[in-house]
Amino acid sequence: MYAFKINGGRTLSGQVQVKGAKNAILPLMAAALLTDEPITLHNISYLSDVLTLSDLLTSMGASVVQDADSITIQCSQITCTTASYDYVSKMRATFWVLGPLLGRFHQAKVSLPGGCAIGARPVDLYIKALEKMGATIEIDNGYVVAKGPLHAAEISFPKISVGATHNTIMAAVLTPGITVIHNPALEPEAVDLIRLLQKMGADIQGVGTRTLTITGVSKLHGTDYAVISDRIETATFAVATALTRGRVMIKGGDISLMQSVAETLYPSQIELTQTQDGLLVDATHANLVATPITTSEYPGFPTDSQPLLTTMLSVAKGDSLVTERIYENRFMHVPELNRMGANIQIIDNKNILIHGVSELSGATVTSSDLRGGIGLVLAGLVAKGESIVQRVYHIDRGYHRVEEKLTALGADIVRFKQEKKG
Ligand code: EPZ
Repeated sequence: MYAFKINGGRTLSGQVQVKGAKNAILPLMAAALLTDEPITLHNISYLSDVLTLSDLLTSMGASVVQDADSITIQCSQITCTTASYDYVSKMRATFWVLGPLLGRFHQAKVSLPGGCAIGARPVDLYIKALEKMGATIEIDNGYVVAKGPLHAAEISFPKISVGATHNTIMAAVLTPGITVIHNPALEPEAVDLIRLLQKMGADIQGVGTRTLTITGVSKLHGTDYAVISDRIETATFAVATALTRGRVMIKGGDISLMQSVAETLYPSQIELTQTQDGLLVDATHANLVATPITTSEYPGFPTDSQPLLTTMLSVAKGDSLVTERIYENRFMHVPELNRMGANIQIIDNKNILIHGVSELSGATVTSSDLRGGIGLVLAGLVAKGESIVQRVYHIDRGYHRVEEKLTALGADIVRFKQEKKG
C-alpha cells in the first residue's frame, strides 16, 4: 500500500491545473449506455474511479478508448446488462448504470452497493422512482434485478439525492411520454449530465430548477462534450493555498461553482479572483478566523468540502461549529487531526466544535475515505515536521497524482510504498 510523506511548512505558489469533475465524469460515462453512437468526453482525469467504471462498461461489451485528455465510449454492442458486486463494491457510482440500462434495454441486474465508510447510503429513492415508472424490481442475492419496459410518471423525491436524480433522468430520456421529476438535485454535476443528454438529443426542460420535465425520445445520438471543472479539487487547492499563506493560480477553477465555499474563505482574508484562465487564490495576507459551516445540498455548502475546511478551521483563531447534514459518519478524519495537535470536540455524529490551535504537528495518520484523506494531506502541508498519510488509495479515487501537483507548487510530499506490517 502507498502512503504520502509530507514535510510541512512550505508556502505554495505557482499554478496548478484542475480537470473535469470526478462526480460529473462518472454519470456522463454511464449516459453513454443510452446510445449506440460514440460519446467523447473531454477534460478527463484518469482517476481510479474513472478506470473502475471504464472496466465495468468494457465488461458489458462497450468499446472504451482513452486518450490523454478524453475518453470515447461506444455502446453499440452491449452483450451483458449485469454490473457485478466486484465493481459496485469498489465504487458505488457504478450502480448508476441501472437507469440507462433499464431505459434502453428494459433490463438490468446490478449489485446493491451496501453502506460505506461515510454512511449507510441506501438506494430506496432510486428503486421507488423506477417502480413508479413501471419497472418490476426484485432483490435477489444482493442484486437489484429490474425489468421494463418503463412508462412516463410523475416522481417526487422526498429527499434530494444526486445519484437518484442522475439515475431517474437517464431512465426517463428514452421512455415514451412525459416524466416529471420534482425535487431533483441541483448540483452542477447533475446539471452537467442534463447538458450532455440534451446534446445527445434528449428533451429535458426546467434545468437548474426543482422541477424537470422530460419528454421521451425514441433515440439518442453520439456527441462530444467537455466535462465541467472539479469544484472540490478547486476547493482543495484553495484551502492548501490558504493554509500555507501562498498565492496560486488554479487553472480551470470556477468560482461560480463554489460560492458557498468562497464565502467561508472570505472572512479569513483570502482573496479569490476569477480570471479567464481560472481562479487566483491569494492568501499572502490571510488571517484565518473561525467560521461556522453547515453542509447541505447545492447551492449550500458541499459535504465533500467539509473535511477540507475542518482542517483549515483547526488552525484558525476561535471556535467553529461544523454541522454535517448529508452523511451520518463524515468526521472520521477528526480523531486523526486531533492526533496532529488539533483540538476538535466531537459533539455527536452531526456536529463538531473546532477550537482553533496555533499549529499542528506532524504525525502518522490514516485515511479512511477520499475527502477525509485529502483533509489529512492538507493538515500535513502545514504541520510542523514530518507527517505520514497512509492508505492513499482512497485519495487516488478522486485526485490524479495530487502529490505531483502539490510538489510543483512547492510542497515537500512524496508517495512511497509501505512495507506490510506484522
Ligand atoms: C454524490 O453521491 C457524490 N458522489 C458524493 O461524493 C457526494 O457526497 C454526494 O453526491 C452528495 O453531494 C458522486 O457523485 C460519485 P446522494 P450520492 O444520493 O449520489 C441519502 C465524493 O467524495 N440517500 O446525494 O451517492 C444518502 O444516504 C463522494 O466524491 C437516501 O437516503 O449521494 C445521503 O445521506 C462521496 N436514499 C443523502 O441521501 C437514496 O436512495 C445524499 O446522498 C439515496 C440517497
